[in-house]
Parts: sequence; C-alpha cells; structure tokens
Amino acid sequence: KQHLLSAADLSRDEAVAVLDTAEQIEASLAGREVKKLPTLRGRTVVNLFFEDSTRTRISFELAAKRLSADVINFSAKGSSVSKGESLKDTALTLQAMGADAVVIRHGASGAPYQLASWVDGSVVNAGDGTHEHPTQALLDAFTMRKRTGRQMGDDLSGLKVTLVGDVLHSRVARSNVLLLHTLGADVTLVAPPTLLPVGVEAWPCNHSYDLDASLPGADVVMMLRVQRERMNASYFPTEREYSRRYGLDATRAARLGDDTIVMHPGPMNRGMEIAAEVADGTRSTIVEQVANGVSTRMAVLYLLLGGAQ
Ligand code: CP
Repeated sequence: KQHLLSAADLSRDEAVAVLDTAEQIEASLAGREVKKLPTLRGRTVVNLFFEDSTRTRISFELAAKRLSADVINFSAKGSSVSKGESLKDTALTLQAMGADAVVIRHGASGAPYQLASWVDGSVVNAGDGTHEHPTQALLDAFTMRKRTGRQMGDDLSGLKVTLVGDVLHSRVARSNVLLLHTLGADVTLVAPPTLLPVGVEAWPCNHSYDLDASLPGADVVMMLRVQRERMNASYFPTEREYSRRYGLDATRAARLGDDTIVMHPGPMNRGMEIAAEVADGTRSTIVEQVANGVSTRMAVLYLLLGGAQ
C-alpha cells in the first residue's frame, strides 16, 4: 500500500500485519537503552498539522525519529498558510523538498485524499474533520488485542466492543467501527439520537440509545469525547443530563465485568463522558493507548515506506 487514508483501506490480514509489526517493534526495543531502529535512515517524514493535536502529533514525531527518519514538523499556525497559501501549494512545496511521507491532520473531511493526489510520497491520515482517524483505530485494536490475551496473528473475533457518546462528530468512532468490523469484533454504538449520524443503520454495527442496557457483556467500553466545538447547542442536552444518561461514572463502572476494559482516545472531558476515578482506575487503558500509539505508528510508517531506499 502507498497510503493509509481510511481504516477501510486495510483487509483483515493487512490490519493483523500492522498489529504484529507493532508487537515485533515493541519487543525489539524492550529493555534497550537507545530506543531507535535504523530502518528509515535517509527518509523524510513531514507532520503537517492544520488542527490542534497533542497525542497524535507527538507520537508520529517520536515514531518517525525512533525509525531514524528525518522529521519536519509543520503546523499551519506560523506558516504561509496564515497568508492564504492553499493546501495544494503547501503540498507541492513539501513535494519539492522530497518528503517521503506526509502525515496530515486537517479540519476538512477528505483533505488527505486531495493531498494524496498531489504528492508522490505516502500520505497518512492523522484525523480529517469528522471523517476518519485510522491510526487511532489501529492503536486501539492493538491495545484491545494485548489486554484481552490474544496473540500475534490473532484478530479480534468475538470481542464485544461498546462505543459510547458523540458518534456524530467522532472520526475515532468511524475508523474504529470499520477496523473492528474487519477484525471480527462485535460493535455497538451508544448515543443520544441527536449524536448518531444519519445512515448509521448501514454501518457494520448495532446501535442503541440506552447505555445501561448496553454495558452488560461488553469486553471493551470506549468512551468518546463530547466535541462541543463542533456542535450547535440546539441538539445537545445539558452537560448534567448528558453525564447522567451517557457518562461512565463509578457506579456504572462497578457493574462492568471483572475483565472489562475502559478506553478513551483522549483528550477527555473528565466529569462529563467519564468520571475522573474511572479514567484513572485499574480498568482504564488510556495511558497504555498513548504508549501503544508510538509502536503502532512506527509499524505504519515502516510498512508504508518499506524500510528500503
Ligand atoms: N486521540 C487524539 O487524536 O488525540 P490528539 O487530538 O491529542 O492528537
């Protein structure tokens, strides 16, 4: 493959190969003082961020550096984008400078597809509008596979995953539903009716408006961030009402199965979609997800760039 634009780009075997590669990379770096592989020496990776990010931007930078690539971090703020330069001219500038891979986050859904039509190198979607965030889905699948005792070569067949919250605005939810379906998991979306997208019936998953009815039997509960910045107040209940009906508080968490894990892609609204004690509790994989993001993104860059010049 040349690009990773959507979780749907990956077949079951390709997705498992990314998870296996991430696991191999993690094993090969474990216990080493210098956490670096020479694989992408001489290659250039550009991180092109038009939207804010903490986890994704830093972990792609760390991933590329740990593979010994040259890394250029470009954020729209402070660049010629603020003088009105277009995405196309920005892309052609990066192309002229010899970028082998461009990792892009953009507020417009579909921007990574446009970029892929303008540059010769690989394009990785690091989040486009409300559309997709495929590397988040890969690191989430990697975390689920590890935490549920599955092995190298395994997919997520039979795993029961419940995704809760603002599905409408969530690129993480879209990519997770696609990838989890490919990997054989059984996915249920839980949200108020106004925060489920039109056409959700056609998605490869179930959906419900009732959190308490959806939690029993879940192996994984993934809480989604309420994206107030993308919302019109008219279709959002009050924060208190949302939290009462759709928040994962300590009482609800106590009713989960003994081995059920709680995930959140971050950033979190503590006290709204997830209580602080649940986010920091023993079921939570939130910090582990961030750590797994580095090895998963190393695997993606390694597989896309091939390691050879
Ligand atoms: N999960 C995630 O994409 O976080 P950032 O917005 O901080 O990158």
